[in-house]
Amino acid sequence: MNPKYRKTVIAGNWKMNLLPSDVPAYAARLLELLGGEQPCEIAICAPSVLLPAAVTAFLGSPVSVGAQDVSAQESGAFTGEISAAQLKDAGAVCTIVGHSERRAMHGETDALIAQKLRRALAAGLRPILCVGETLQQREIGAETDTIRLQLKGALSGLEPAALRRVILAYEPVWAIGTGRTATPEQASDMCGAIRTEIRKMFGSPAARAISVLYGGSMNAGNAAELLSCPDVDGGLIGGASLKPDSFYQIVKAVQQ
Ligand code: PGA
Repeated sequence: MNPKYRKTVIAGNWKMNLLPSDVPAYAARLLELLGGEQPCEIAICAPSVLLPAAVTAFLGSPVSVGAQDVSAQESGAFTGEISAAQLKDAGAVCTIVGHSERRAMHGETDALIAQKLRRALAAGLRPILCVGETLQQREIGAETDTIRLQLKGALSGLEPAALRRVILAYEPVWAIGTGRTATPEQASDMCGAIRTEIRKMFGSPAARAISVLYGGSMNAGNAAELLSCPDVDGGLIGGASLKPDSFYQIVKAVQQ
């Protein structure tokens, strides 16, 4: 973390877990644990159908609510899709785009992700853009090339003012939901490589200001060490965000 230059963000990604009826108790417990403190920006990216419950439960609290995906289309005949304007109007402040599960299971390309990111920005949502290599790509030493292409594909041509609203997340695919976390060195190297790429594309001030989160089996036990890396500005947390107590432990690790 480098709070002098950029915001620390701890974001939960509930994925396809929890029910609308689970949200009030989750929120009450998390807010009780936080006790009104906000050591960093805190967000919960909930399934769309849980957004109304989450927005209500976290209203006026230090926890903001986000989505996990957004349509690349503005509106119209796109059955099952949810637009950026709809998410925004429902109370979301941010949305994940380009998560590896969507890239792998829904065939999302960098071009589609670029469109989604722009739709989010146009509607006033902060995109959390995920990039990261597969195990196979790491084994052949292609991890930096992979993230470079993903960043270029999604961000090329973006106005600097728009980039300031983007949050990046380095999520090595081999570490997601596997219990196998990147070492602090690996996380630090790759978040640093992402910042270098942003510097090449948008210049030093933009690179210095953008928050780069780490995601992939982050938990209460490893968060403090990962977050102590200068280029790691927070976490995107799946499994460990499903229980308010374990999510809070990660938020608490920001202060250590
Ligand atoms: P995980 O998921 O913490 O369960 O590994 C992270 C993510 O996919 O965002």
